[in-house]
Amino acid sequence: MTVLMFVLLSRKASSSTTVLLPKTGFPLRISSVQRKERDLWIMKKASFDQLYKWQRTNLQNNDEFILHDGPPYANGKPHMGHALNKILKDIVLRYKLLSGKLVHFVPGWDCHGLPIELKALETHNVQNSSSLEIRQTAKLFALDTIKCQKEAFSRWGVMADWDNGCYFTFTPSYVTSQLKMFCDLYDKGLVYRDYKPVYWSPSSRTALAESELEYNANHVSTSIYLKLSLQTPLPECIADSSKDAPVYLVVWTTTPWSIPANQAVCYNPDKKYCLVRYKSDKDNKYLVIALELYHCLEQLWSCHFTLIKEFCGNIFNGHYYKHPFRKIESMPLLPGYHVSTKKGTGFVHTAPAHGPDDFLVALHHKLPIVNLVDEDGKFCTKAGSDLCGNDVLDKGQEKVLQFLQNDVIFQESFTHSYPYDWRTKRPVILRASLQWFIDTDKIKTQSIEAMKNVTVVPANFEKPMLNQLASRPYWCISRQRSWGVPIPVFYQSQSPTKEAILHRDIVDKVCKLTLEKGIDQWWLMSAEDLIGKDLIKELKLSPGHIFKSMDIMDIWFDSGVSWNSVLPPGKQADFYLEGIDQFGGWFQSSLLTSVASSGSAPYKNIFVHGFVLDREGRKMSKSLGNVIDPHLILDGKEKKQPAIGIDALRWWVASHVSGNGSNVSVSTESIQQASEDVQKMRSVLRFLLGNLSGFTSAPFEQINPKTLGLTDLYMLHLLSEFVGTALSAYQEMNFRKVTSLISSFINNSVSAFYCSIVKNRLYCQSLTSEDRLSALFVLSEILDQITLIIAPILPHLMEEIEIYHPWRSENGGLFRNRKFTDIQKLDISDVDCIYPSLSIRNLVNKEIGRLNTQEWNIEISAFDCRDLQLLQMLQSEGKSHNSALCELLQVSMVTLLGKNSVDSISKEQENSYKEDCFKKIECHHFGLIQITLSKTKLAICSRCRRYTSSDGNICFSCLKVCSL
Ligand SMILES: *[C@@H]1O[C@H](CO)[C@@H](O)[C@H](O)[C@H]1NC(C)=O
Ligand SMILES: *[C@@H]1O[C@H](CO)[C@@H](O)[C@H](O)[C@H]1NC(C)=O
Ligand SMILES: *[C@@H]1O[C@H](CO)[C@@H](O)[C@H](O)[C@H]1NC(C)=O
Ligand SMILES: *[C@@H]1O[C@H](CO)[C@@H](O)[C@H](O)[C@H]1NC(C)=O
Repeated sequence: MTVLMFVLLSRKASSSTTVLLPKTGFPLRISSVQRKERDLWIMKKASFDQLYKWQRTNLQNNDEFILHDGPPYANGKPHMGHALNKILKDIVLRYKLLSGKLVHFVPGWDCHGLPIELKALETHNVQNSSSLEIRQTAKLFALDTIKCQKEAFSRWGVMADWDNGCYFTFTPSYVTSQLKMFCDLYDKGLVYRDYKPVYWSPSSRTALAESELEYNANHVSTSIYLKLSLQTPLPECIADSSKDAPVYLVVWTTTPWSIPANQAVCYNPDKKYCLVRYKSDKDNKYLVIALELYHCLEQLWSCHFTLIKEFCGNIFNGHYYKHPFRKIESMPLLPGYHVSTKKGTGFVHTAPAHGPDDFLVALHHKLPIVNLVDEDGKFCTKAGSDLCGNDVLDKGQEKVLQFLQNDVIFQESFTHSYPYDWRTKRPVILRASLQWFIDTDKIKTQSIEAMKNVTVVPANFEKPMLNQLASRPYWCISRQRSWGVPIPVFYQSQSPTKEAILHRDIVDKVCKLTLEKGIDQWWLMSAEDLIGKDLIKELKLSPGHIFKSMDIMDIWFDSGVSWNSVLPPGKQADFYLEGIDQFGGWFQSSLLTSVASSGSAPYKNIFVHGFVLDREGRKMSKSLGNVIDPHLILDGKEKKQPAIGIDALRWWVASHVSGNGSNVSVSTESIQQASEDVQKMRSVLRFLLGNLSGFTSAPFEQINPKTLGLTDLYMLHLLSEFVGTALSAYQEMNFRKVTSLISSFINNSVSAFYCSIVKNRLYCQSLTSEDRLSALFVLSEILDQITLIIAPILPHLMEEIEIYHPWRSENGGLFRNRKFTDIQKLDISDVDCIYPSLSIRNLVNKEIGRLNTQEWNIEISAFDCRDLQLLQMLQSEGKSHNSALCELLQVSMVTLLGKNSVDSISKEQENSYKEDCFKKIECHHFGLIQITLSKTKLAICSRCRRYTSSDGNICFSCLKVCSL
């Protein structure tokens, strides 16, 4: 519609210089080549980089809105996920700022952790470095990434103090606050040290994280089926024929070396088991196995079972078996729903030191965690003199198998996928080691309670997190790596349990050192120097026998305590806004640390968004070739890809988030669509701006909105409705709705409806005629309010408009000067009178279709006098070329007839026109309205282009304007 208007314009321009065409330096399009420079120019001109600080110092406001930034990982280039997250945050912040709040937003980075450590090792090729060397390279790597990400976030227009107002998890102040928090939680009894099975690489003598494993699909293990003698008799009814014979359970394992560490056997109480007689070459035995595996085992073992009895697993409750190694010990049979009857035997050998499920069973039933394997992967002395010193993956396992040979029913080589150390390419084992934990069990009730005060959008998404909280037994927070915050404890080597020394005074001393010289001191200085002579004496420690911990903290603990460093003291954040995966991550670690420390959640509201995926719903990856790079959207790539600019990226973000947490797909097409949407807005806004030219201050001070014409009032009514619905969509955080309201209002109500109606008034009347000023007043209101509504989403474009605004360009930008509360509430309730005229307009447009309505005359006959009265509000005369009704209908002339004159005149006309230029339609409002359309006999006016000239020269109305 607008494009058409501009074409029309240029024809007019040549025909008459007295026509008032829109004038503005605001460009219709920004070419790809100018795009980057233009974005930067706007940001500079409107001082984007100063806005955050400006509002912090200039707003006298106790009404603060705190959005606490979840730290992105300082690893990798800025991607679409960052764009979605940071731009959404900025939309919320700018919306709050315009709503009159003082906003608090401190962006942060998660700087420690394994991926950075590995990347640093990779990039800088320092395979054999000391902890300190690793830390230095990792730090440089993190700093590089932070710089690159910061530039992007700031370029996207995200409002913050990027120079001095960010937080980083590796700065001395952050680290010391974290060390103190660790100490606080320890003093509260929420931090403890215990065994837990972790992946352990004997070949590199360290625990490994999941990401340091490589799975070898062709690993060959020794698989055994082992019988264990049941010590407690089965109930009479089951035992019958086997009464006096021994009964055995059968367990299956592919890690026979772990049998000496066996602590229990688990069964599934809901599954069917059976007692069978098993005949082999050697003897007859009674075995218990899962019923479902009966045939499977017969086949595998090439034998024949005789089924004696079937029964349910729950009968094993309270039963015992003899330990396979220490035959005299009775070991418990325990229920476990993790026990599957799809493979194996339906009984699971449980060695708590060597398996995660086993470990959980042990925690639940308070079994001891017995670890018989040392750091080199060899049996330790506790395993007995026969085994001690033998490698569990080699000689050690052979010895175990020798010992068990009479109890092994079946043995085979078993090929399966098995974890290897990614560096040494040697197999790893699961092995319990001493780690540090947070006792989440103790605070789970309180955490779940605290979540009741938190509003989560979308509401149903917090359930999995609550379930996870309820079932999470502990949180292991120690890692055996270098790039992180040290666990600030020492060990007294003389004590057999290497008892930990964790003392507040020592931690305070370390914190002081950190603030002075950095946390690297932990790795540089000896334990004695870190603690200091005075404290060693005071705490009665033995110098020369103190070791510092070489563990660092889990990075989820680093970022989880960010609220403590970043939020104003004693305050909760109003908002956490992150991707949906943070329910398992940051939302949870923040909640747990905050509840542990203060008893309440660190946030009042959580808003989540989905992941950015490609068009087919796949993750973006280099190998798939489906990566869309936000940097290329902004700046393009010479010749290959045009620059699209920040407006389109931000519009794309807003138009894809409705608050339902669903994943967002991105494609070149959807970015292109966003770009076209923005371009449409741009041209309409340019039209509004251009028409305000010719004035250096608002020219309509004298106008009383109440005396405006009905069409103008109606437009203001549409505007006010739009503003109301758009603001409530913002309130609901439904940004997709905001964008669709904006697009539809601009394209339909403003461009297609109002602008096309009033252009004659704007172009052809004298500069300050009352009718023209009325239209300008409405256009100016539309421009003011629309720019405010769009500003949180497209701050660049809205500031650009502000720069070109004829009487507002000099006052420092939209965000510093305007608020939603400035929006005038005009009293425009009584616009219903326009509805009959609007229905006629719709009908006429439909009837005439794409033909120029200006070539037609319209005769309207209203049968109900109430309809006639309403129509007369837009045209008091019987016939007119210039009434508001003519303007609304965009026709040459309107004739209004009442009920009495209807029949005769219509008949008369019917005879006098030819078929093709005569149409008759009807509609109903209060009563019947008959509409007769006929081609005008007048000629087109060379000035206003309306069919209002009797002789082909300039029409009477234009003549009047020109002679003024
Ligand atoms: C790495 O250190 C180990 C043990 O100190 C040594 O055996 C090995 O040769 C070193 N490797 C390199 C590449 O320096
Ligand atoms: C929840 O909010 C209520 C009312 O503000 C407050 O009294 C209560 O302490 C809060 N509970 C928690 C766990 O934060
Ligand atoms: C969530 O909203 C998006 C629009 O933002 C829509 O396309 C999608 O269908 C919605 N999903 C659900 C599950 O409601
Ligand atoms: C969103 O994408 C992630 C990652 O591909 C996927 O795991 C998740 O199931 C998706 N969520 C929905 C609601 O489709």
